[in-house]
Amino acid sequence: MRFNSVGFALSVGMLLIVVLIGFTLLSAAGLVGFAADEVKVAQCGVGGPSDDVNPRELTAEKTMTSAGSESAEVAAGHTLFNNNCAQCHAVGEQVVGPALGGLTKRRPISWILPWVKNSSKVVASGDEYAITLFNKYNKQQMPSFALSDKEITSIVVYITSTEGQYLQVVVN
Ligand code: HEC
Repeated sequence: MRFNSVGFALSVGMLLIVVLIGFTLLSAAGLVGFAADEVKVAQCGVGGPSDDVNPRELTAEKTMTSAGSESAEVAAGHTLFNNNCAQCHAVGEQVVGPALGGLTKRRPISWILPWVKNSSKVVASGDEYAITLFNKYNKQQMPSFALSDKEITSIVVYITSTEGQYLQVVVN
């Protein structure tokens, strides 16, 4: 009798562990499975099925300085983004061009700078990523921008800072 209940508890424990491992593998696969430009889905996955991750808590410190407002660099990037990029890009959804959320995970800054300055030059250089992207967007050429490295970097910093905010929007 005693042995049986111990045995029963053990099998329940084993079952739980197996289910947990399976669940972990599945959610990991789910995250990896989405293409990089499906940021919307991937970011949802972060807050995913596990209840103990509250995306709102994740985002708070990412988007704000300790003073509760955008840092000077983020603010500068925000303005530049609105004036130059927002007509074709958003962080969380495809507009004319791709959603820019998760950009720094896809492309190094050493690629982003020349791209924003003159994307067709990057395409013409034979860069495989650029050619694939250009073809995917029906060979629509992004305009060239006479922005400095510092200005482009601030736009990238702004984009990165809004990724958390976007996650919050989706979850709500
Ligand atoms: C007139 C529309 C337009 C404007 C304005 C524009 N872009 Fe683009 N952008 C595109 C298109 C379309 C693509 C897809 C590639 C292609 O077709 O050349 C793209 C691609 C990109 C990519 C590559 C994204 C990825 O997923 O790898 C980056 C980075 C980017 N743009 C940044 C910017 C920034 C920063 C600005 C503002 C300074 C800007 N774009 C302004 C249309 C635009």
